[in-house]
Amino acid sequence: MKGDAYLKCIDPKCGLEYSIENTNVQCEKGHLLDVKYKNKPPSSLKEVFYKRRNSEGSIFNESGVWRFRELLNFCQIDTENLEECSKYLVSLDGAEGRQSKPYRMSKAAEFIGIPNNNLWLQPEGYNPSGSFKDNGMATAVTHAKMVGAKKIVCASTGNTSAAAGMFAANEGINCDVYIPAGQIAPGKLSQAYQFGAQIIEVDGNFDDALKQSLDDAQNHDGYTVNSINPFRIEGQKTIPFRALEYLNWKVPDWIVYPGGALGNTSSCGKALMELYEWGWIEKIPRIAVINSEGASTLSDLYNGEFENEKLRWNKGNPNVELISRYYDHLDKEGLKPKTKATAIQIGRPANILKGLRALEFTNGVVTTVTDSEMLDGMSVVGLNGFDCEMASGATVVGIKKLVNEGTIKKDDVVVGILTGRQKDAMIPVDYHKNPENKFAIPPRN
Ligand code: F0G
Repeated sequence: MKGDAYLKCIDPKCGLEYSIENTNVQCEKGHLLDVKYKNKPPSSLKEVFYKRRNSEGSIFNESGVWRFRELLNFCQIDTENLEECSKYLVSLDGAEGRQSKPYRMSKAAEFIGIPNNNLWLQPEGYNPSGSFKDNGMATAVTHAKMVGAKKIVCASTGNTSAAAGMFAANEGINCDVYIPAGQIAPGKLSQAYQFGAQIIEVDGNFDDALKQSLDDAQNHDGYTVNSINPFRIEGQKTIPFRALEYLNWKVPDWIVYPGGALGNTSSCGKALMELYEWGWIEKIPRIAVINSEGASTLSDLYNGEFENEKLRWNKGNPNVELISRYYDHLDKEGLKPKTKATAIQIGRPANILKGLRALEFTNGVVTTVTDSEMLDGMSVVGLNGFDCEMASGATVVGIKKLVNEGTIKKDDVVVGILTGRQKDAMIPVDYHKNPENKFAIPPRN
């Protein structure tokens, strides 16, 4: 297996390659990197993954991430050798991804207006730190450990910091967290404190915090664990892997995510590109990305709402100047991302190019929803006995919007990802207190 995995620049005109021990998140020309594998995993592994659902005492089988370890074997270990797994693979006792699978939620289906049998919602909020981030953090911290990093660093709207802090504490490494001061749900911030992370408050928004954290990581020997780290993307591929496995690898028509920094969009795209190339799937589901109306960079650019040009990956030749002009325009007009769904309050999605590549490969779509719609989406999920946060509510109402406009057909099979659990206790309380809200059940005395 040694020599099988390496890093490669995503820009086909550049294509610089690096060894798997490289810790830079970009090539020397400043482009994003992919983890690549020379070997083609055989589809007979589907059986192995299925069998591992009976874990037989192994945390690496119990883990919803490492159960698929052959498809993310950047450590290049003998994946059947559990001693090697223990030495290399970072896991919170097998808990990451363990409870995640697609569920039917009849009230959400009814609200959306599609048959219950066609809608699957996959809660990622039941991960140990309460969001999908644990999937990618298990792999990023595995790589950090592999290269002997002493400190991991991230910027966060909250969930990343909770996941990073949790794994860092469990592995005995330090963790610095850059947060936009005053813009983080208290429940998320308290997790980072609880796990012993060093919080650095940045006077600005998430985009400012990310810039500062990247500078500090570079200057002070920190290992960046934001989703621009290609090893984060490897772990997040297991979100669609689990969905596909539970559907017996029968590919749905759509996979739907809220869009922030676009790590999820990128990882879903990479997972599908690999599965297709390896002959594991014959059909390609379409990805739909749901932006908040107040943080709609991807939607604006993809749908041609800026300078009337629809930004595309364009086979590796995206119009990057258009993106720069859009950011200049935001700066010049003093436009800042603004939504109550702070998890996705992001103006400069760091993975935008990988996101565009994913959308091109899957013939994807991007749309926006309002804050009040997201609250309804979040609340209807609750009525099915599942918890999710406001940003995840975007998935539900995004599907509804796309069904209403006829983009998603009523007989399409849709998998929506509910990215995180509620960590802002007052959001549901305030929602339900107001009888005007669609699903409100106001308190009575
Ligand atoms: N949903 C939740 C609950 C999130 O926490 C995030 C991102 C997203 C969606 C967006 O996902 O970046 O892959 O497009 N939260 C980050 C954080 C940025 O710092 O916790 P994306």
